[in-house]
Amino acid sequence: MPHRALGPFSVSAVGYGASILSLPEGPQRTPEEAIATVHAALDAGITLIDTADVYAPSWDTVGHNERLIAEALGSWSGDASRVVVATKGGLVRTMDGRWSRNGSYRHLRSAVEASLTNLGRDVIDVYQWHRPDRWQVFADVIESFKILQMEGLIRAVGLSNVISDEIEIAIELLGPNGLASVQNQFSPTYRCSFPELELCRENKVAFLSWSPLGGAATARQLASEVPPFATVAERHGVSPARVAVAWALAQGEHVIPLVGASRPETIRDSAAGAELELTEEDLEMLGGHTDQRIPSRSSAS
Ligand SMILES: NC(=O)c1ccc[n+]([C@@H]2O[C@H](COP(=O)([O-])OP(=O)(O)OC[C@H]3O[C@@H](n4cnc5c(N)ncnc54)[C@H](OP(=O)(O)O)[C@@H]3O)[C@@H](O)[C@H]2O)c1
Repeated sequence: MPHRALGPFSVSAVGYGASILSLPEGPQRTPEEAIATVHAALDAGITLIDTADVYAPSWDTVGHNERLIAEALGSWSGDASRVVVATKGGLVRTMDGRWSRNGSYRHLRSAVEASLTNLGRDVIDVYQWHRPDRWQVFADVIESFKILQMEGLIRAVGLSNVISDEIEIAIELLGPNGLASVQNQFSPTYRCSFPELELCRENKVAFLSWSPLGGAATARQLASEVPPFATVAERHGVSPARVAVAWALAQGEHVIPLVGASRPETIRDSAAGAELELTEEDLEMLGGHTDQRIPSRSSAS
């Protein structure tokens, strides 16, 4: 598995996004099946796992996904110390089932402490602001992340679901190499994060593409939703999902797709996308990162 830079870390070019193992709309795998999937990701050479405190079946099980990752890393036969875990804070789940935002220092501080406990770690490798809280001044929240970093609770700072102006503010406030990553939606069916992807390239910030297969519903029918992916997959004798992973990686050395999977066979297949070399002809057929948003049924979390 080739590696790419993520702030101070070198991680596998393909990351594993674990949310599908905890969210209520997911396929509801047993804990054994879930852990087998994480182990398969690690065995395939993946050394970056993306999680979040709010990835949980319900409001009162927040931390579920982080605890699952800790358990999977603890029971894995390989060297878990080489695995970078990126988690997120700044979203909350309410009793009535809604997702809300809280970017206050008070909330982030207690969320970090809870994530450290859930993950069984002394420091969080990459702590990402899950989604900007429009009730807060953006720069103030970045200052809160700086404090968390100075306190030694988090190693690297990441942002998620942000626009170019916000990335620029964070880069200015955090200083050279201060912003490790931006995690935005980007897939064959959702290409409008092009400006943020480009800005990250210019500033040597890792761009973590979320739902890189378009989310669970789209992933099942990628071939029919975006037919060129089926054509190129046939050319290479591989799955359209594997082509989607290779296509994401081809967008730049700073792009790291975070593939979600709830089965060992699917994460193994997608991880192999890191080894798939697409030709110029393939890439021309698949199209680049354009400003055009191709409608999909995937939902954001
Ligand atoms: N920051 C944010 O706001 C945000 C929002 C959404 C997602 N994310 C991140 O992105 C990660 C991935 O997102 P996602 O799970 O929504 O979407 P995704 O990775 O685009 O799609 C996941 C689906 O792809 C299927 N799949 C994976 N590899 C496959 C293969 N080789 N062949 C066929 N199907 C394959 C999986 O099927 P099986 O279940 O059958 O394995 C699963 O249903 C999340 O875990 C999270 O880390 C972040």
